[in-house]
Amino acid sequence: MSICFLNDKYIDIKDAKISPLDRGFLFGDAIYEVIIAIDKKPFELNAHISRLKKNISTLKYSLKDQINLKEIILEVISRNKFLNQVIYVQISRGTDLIRDHIPRNDLSPTLFVSSHELKTDFSISSGEKAILLEDFRWRKSQIKATSLLANVIYKSEANQKGVFEAILFDNGFVTEGSVSNVFCCIENKIITPPLTENILPGVTRKVIIELLEETSIEYEETKIPIDSFPLAKEIWVTNSTKGVIPIIELDGKKIGSGLPGEKYLQISKAFLNKLFG
Ligand code: PDD
Repeated sequence: MSICFLNDKYIDIKDAKISPLDRGFLFGDAIYEVIIAIDKKPFELNAHISRLKKNISTLKYSLKDQINLKEIILEVISRNKFLNQVIYVQISRGTDLIRDHIPRNDLSPTLFVSSHELKTDFSISSGEKAILLEDFRWRKSQIKATSLLANVIYKSEANQKGVFEAILFDNGFVTEGSVSNVFCCIENKIITPPLTENILPGVTRKVIIELLEETSIEYEETKIPIDSFPLAKEIWVTNSTKGVIPIIELDGKKIGSGLPGEKYLQISKAFLNKLFG
């Protein structure tokens, strides 16, 4: 049995139902978070909640002040049996009476929190392959919105080509992965695109930057030109459910030596310490 929270109740996910007039279903008018819990302890919960609250305020969702998101997330973790879990939190603007682009102003948001087993063990990776695709998404990718059709198309194309991730570029510069942020090593320096580049402010990205600050590795938040990207010595992609993954082949060509780089090994150990330590 898997227990979820829907609106105001903890129920078996098999009994969870929402209206087809929910704006999340009709318009993708909804935001979400994906949080991992290790040994039933959520990782970086405050960072996820603050990103969610920022999006609630950007989109002017009228989530009631008395709803304690942290308490609900912790309760879902506690009511589910797995020690390591993936927690999914979704908030839509609410359910309309008829389909209308203009939302009524008395809508009450639909809140859904679910859990499933986290299967990633986050051990040091032997590397994955990726492809490059043009970023045709809208210009507000900093909002963690559920309208992810573009990302579904990218990830499916990567999957059909037998690779792990699609890395996107726009106007000559790398933006992010279809479900991840991107780092690379050029001229011995780790670089990652700044948050101005129509990318999601990833929680794992933030953790990696904090860890880089604690090491002697030089790093900078700066644009990555698409021409120099395939020549990088190392490429990493990061997200909550996979951690840090080194990309060792891009569009069929080796990255660096074709093995995970030394900076990856260093940062990945620091990341594992933070996660499990
Ligand atoms: N997504 N960029 C995109 C487009 C993403 O979908 C994600 C993660 C990230 C990394 O964000 P974070 O480090 O906060 O997980 C960056 C989640 C895992 C998902 O949609 O399932």
